Amino acid sequence: MFIFKDQPALVTGGASGIGLAIARALGEKGCKVVIADYDEEALKTVSDGFPGTLMTIKLDVRDREGWKAAKEKIEAEFGPLAILVNNAGVMDKPGLAMSKSGLVDYSFEQWDRMIAINLTGAANGIMTFGGGMRDRQFGHIVNTCSTQGLIPTAGVLGYSVAKNGLVALGEALRDELAPSHVGVTNLVPGVVATHLAWNELKQEGVEMPKFTLPGGMDPADVAAMVIDGIENNKPFVITHGEYAPYYNERVLRIQAAFAETPVSASYDPTKPLAGTREWAAGELKKEQMEAAAAAEKKDA
Ligand SMILES: NC(=O)c1ccc[n+]([C@@H]2O[C@H](COP(=O)([O-])OP(=O)(O)OC[C@H]3O[C@@H](n4cnc5c(N)ncnc54)[C@H](O)[C@@H]3O)[C@@H](O)[C@H]2O)c1
Repeated sequence: MFIFKDQPALVTGGASGIGLAIARALGEKGCKVVIADYDEEALKTVSDGFPGTLMTIKLDVRDREGWKAAKEKIEAEFGPLAILVNNAGVMDKPGLAMSKSGLVDYSFEQWDRMIAINLTGAANGIMTFGGGMRDRQFGHIVNTCSTQGLIPTAGVLGYSVAKNGLVALGEALRDELAPSHVGVTNLVPGVVATHLAWNELKQEGVEMPKFTLPGGMDPADVAAMVIDGIENNKPFVITHGEYAPYYNERVLRIQAAFAETPVSASYDPTKPLAGTREWAAGELKKEQMEAAAAAEKKDA
């Protein structure tokens, strides 16, 4: 069971929506919370009624120097980070007609931005703080993915690709950090009542009254699931069960392709299959045993 009290926790994209709700829930659990966001105006409002200790940092998750500076500031004031919530994200052009939002209609800039914020932004956070967590053998990382990360979809292709990448990142990172007792949870929300579309329109310079995504779940309910996910080191927190058949349909399509595919001539069932989780764990174990044997030889 994760002990939250007095642990420093950083939430990116924490000035709004799901991130703000998670930050507040972590504050209620007694964490020393850092909210990072690139929206300076929104950052100014987050301390209103915040439950507990709070630091705000202006950070664009694409800015690697910014990550370095954030780490120095957090460690100096709160100590080493225990919880990292990679939550900052932007959606594909909201309101754009489906017929105009294909990959072939993308600009190079739009593609780069989708990947840089929604995928590389999270990797930047992990490369900044993950090594310390591994060395201290303590911590938890949450990545806010999306149901789109399980169901690649035309029309929101860039977002789907980035979030699919983030799902894969979280799963492999979980295996990487498990021996160091650092937990990793992929948060997979369906529609949540946040300002995701309004915030993106604001970035595009469109001015309109603030609105939330219609028919969405309350972000506070998502945050409660995230706390449970951290407490119980869950690999996935999926907020909307109604997406299950759509995900299953994707899996069935892939399984159907496998069913048509014979085992290759070079396959040796007595050896771990390259590229699988079992193979990776075996390689690591081999390396550790060789290092231990070398150390023993040196001592003898
Ligand atoms: N709302 C939904 O229906 C939904 C569904 C699935 C996944 N998500 C994901 O949830 C996460 C949070 O989104 P939300 O719905 O709360 O939207 P939101 O717009 O209310 O909050 C996102 C926050 O991220 C910040 N942000 C965006 N780009 C940033 C950057 N480069 N650096 C730092 N901060 C940045 C924004 O300023 C904003 O405060 C996102 O990753 C989003 O993709 C949302």
